[in-house]
Amino acid sequence: MCDTICKKHRLHGGIFNQTLRDWNSLNAEVTCKNLMYPLFIIENDDEIQEIPSMPGISRYGINHLKKHLDLPVKWGLKSVLLFGVTETLTKDEVATNANSKDNPVIKAIPKIKSWFPNLTIACDVCLCAYTLHGHCGILNSDGSIDNSASLKRIAEVALSYAQAGAHIVAPSDMMDGRIAAIKDILIKNKLENKVAVLSYAAKFASVFYGPFRDAAKSAPSFGDRKCYQLPAGSSGLAVRAADRDVEEGADMLMVKPGLAYLDILRQVKDAHPEYPLFVYQVSGEYAMIYHAAKAGAFDLQNSLNEILISMRRAGADVIITYFTPLILEWLETQK
Ligand code: PBG
Repeated sequence: MCDTICKKHRLHGGIFNQTLRDWNSLNAEVTCKNLMYPLFIIENDDEIQEIPSMPGISRYGINHLKKHLDLPVKWGLKSVLLFGVTETLTKDEVATNANSKDNPVIKAIPKIKSWFPNLTIACDVCLCAYTLHGHCGILNSDGSIDNSASLKRIAEVALSYAQAGAHIVAPSDMMDGRIAAIKDILIKNKLENKVAVLSYAAKFASVFYGPFRDAAKSAPSFGDRKCYQLPAGSSGLAVRAADRDVEEGADMLMVKPGLAYLDILRQVKDAHPEYPLFVYQVSGEYAMIYHAAKAGAFDLQNSLNEILISMRRAGADVIITYFTPLILEWLETQK
């Protein structure tokens, strides 16, 4: 009896070489199919701007994008997530430039499609980079969110990105009802079979977005986003938000940030195993890993590998990460 138990408990006999170890971790593999690359696009076509809060990441003008993406695409990059950043376009109460003809994302989509016809293009849909106050929706005079005005505007912006040729629209604003509003407008415009909706379903109010707000010039000028992003302690709201977005017609779901929310990933995956689940390794996570590795706390490749595997293990099908080109390069050298 004891003998059988002892034999059963000797696990290491099953993992003594890499093939055996791989067989024990197949659901946690990371390949080029599991990655999406976020990109900041600026309105000055000829410029590249380094982002001090995210060393190694830049904002690109359209004329530099092809060169920046050539190698990652060669290494198997499947998809990008586009963010527009504006310096000179006016910001106003209704985020006019979120979908004007001068919007850098709207200008970039057809170009990217012509250079890389097999690349899937997702666009972040939000108002914060284009509103004067930097909030993600339209505000009432008392500073609270005007939900119906916000939904109308967010749906219009999503439609414009879809009409410009985006394959995926990804609303990150967190307004109630936005998935239904976007699905409706896509259906009305006969785009529902050409454009998928990726919902930032469980997006937590997080300090880890700090570097992004610098990168996208989208910090709120007053207050915070706690009335429309989820409180860190709430797993119930996260699952309810995912349920609701599924009911409203989301095609794919997202949890954001990543590393501090792996339990949420697992819960959302278990609740909706039939939906592709994305996790966003956000700007603050990028900066944290970059700086820790630079300071010698750990090796960049090994730490990143472990973190990505943990996200896959927790249920993520796709990881949105600023490290994508580097990871693709590593995968390429292992071939
Ligand atoms: C826009 C948006 C944000 C991020 C993605 N879309 C910022 C925010 O909500 O404040 C964060 C991404 C990152 O930190 O890398 N609403």
